Amino acid sequence: MDNDFKGRVVMVTGGASGIGKANAMMAARRGAKVAVVDASEDSAHATVAELRAAGTEATAEVLDVRDDRAVEAAVERIEAALGPIDGLVASAGVSPPHPAATMPNENWAAAIDVNLTGMFYTLRAVGSRMVERRSGAIVAIASVDGFGGHAGRAHYSASKHGVIGLVKSLAIEWGRFGVRVNAIAPGVVGTPLFHRNIPEDHVRDVMVDRVPMQRLSTADDQAHPCLFLLSDGAAYVNGAVLAVDGGLTSGFFTRWNGADLGSKAMLERGLYAAPVPKG
Ligand SMILES: NC(=O)c1ccc[n+]([C@@H]2O[C@H](COP(=O)([O-])OP(=O)(O)OC[C@H]3O[C@@H](n4cnc5c(N)ncnc54)[C@H](O)[C@@H]3O)[C@@H](O)[C@H]2O)c1
Repeated sequence: MDNDFKGRVVMVTGGASGIGKANAMMAARRGAKVAVVDASEDSAHATVAELRAAGTEATAEVLDVRDDRAVEAAVERIEAALGPIDGLVASAGVSPPHPAATMPNENWAAAIDVNLTGMFYTLRAVGSRMVERRSGAIVAIASVDGFGGHAGRAHYSASKHGVIGLVKSLAIEWGRFGVRVNAIAPGVVGTPLFHRNIPEDHVRDVMVDRVPMQRLSTADDQAHPCLFLLSDGAAYVNGAVLAVDGGLTSGFFTRWNGADLGSKAMLERGLYAAPVPKG
């Protein structure tokens, strides 16, 4: 895998933290020139400083993905500085929880506008140029909340369902032009966003308890499949939504510990073993 992205330009939104930053650093280690796009000025510049210190050609763009003109202008500058964008990882996202019945309009709008509309602006700005060039690959970061609902996260879940619809539609529109559009659906990833929003006992007793691999994902666990989807090895993968969730969405009866008869108790008590027929 070393240097398989040599000479390529990879743009990462949300590239200053968590899953986005892991993608930026990993793409750089594999030889790419990297554009870090993020709303957080300090973290974006710090990430680019880290990339440059490691010998990577990198540039930072500080913007809010809800601002379509800013996104268009940034893509223009990135291509002028680094060259045509070959790969895009769109990771910018927010997840502020709120019960639906009392959710203020602003909370609803924040999740939909950043996670879905901002995603569209980003994919349109980069994808339209890729279509003209007849080449490129895009990975949108969706979520397992794009497969099912989540209490306290109606807005987030709706936005991620929307991202999956967006990705599949663009895959159909752009596939014939040699531009592939895919998504990953991360499960529970130990990033700043995750720890900011979710209490530790809920993480331990509910979330990790239902992950067959019995651990949180690292950001690198997510970056590896993203970069696979950007790579030539995925040349015929288009419109896919890859769950990167340790098996969380593989089935329904997966609880491991818990007070109920979780999977562990069921296995240890032999309750899944078929009774031996008598006689
Ligand atoms: N952490 C998880 O468990 C998890 C699970 C499933 C999906 N995801 C998704 O992965 C993506 C990345 O999440 P993360 O956990 O790395 O979060 P994070 O908070 O560590 O990183 C998100 C980055 O996006 C930037 N950002 C936020 N709003 C922005 C905006 N309007 N414009 C530009 N940049 C903006 C932030 O400044 C931050 O640097 C998100 O789309 C999130 O929904 C995360």
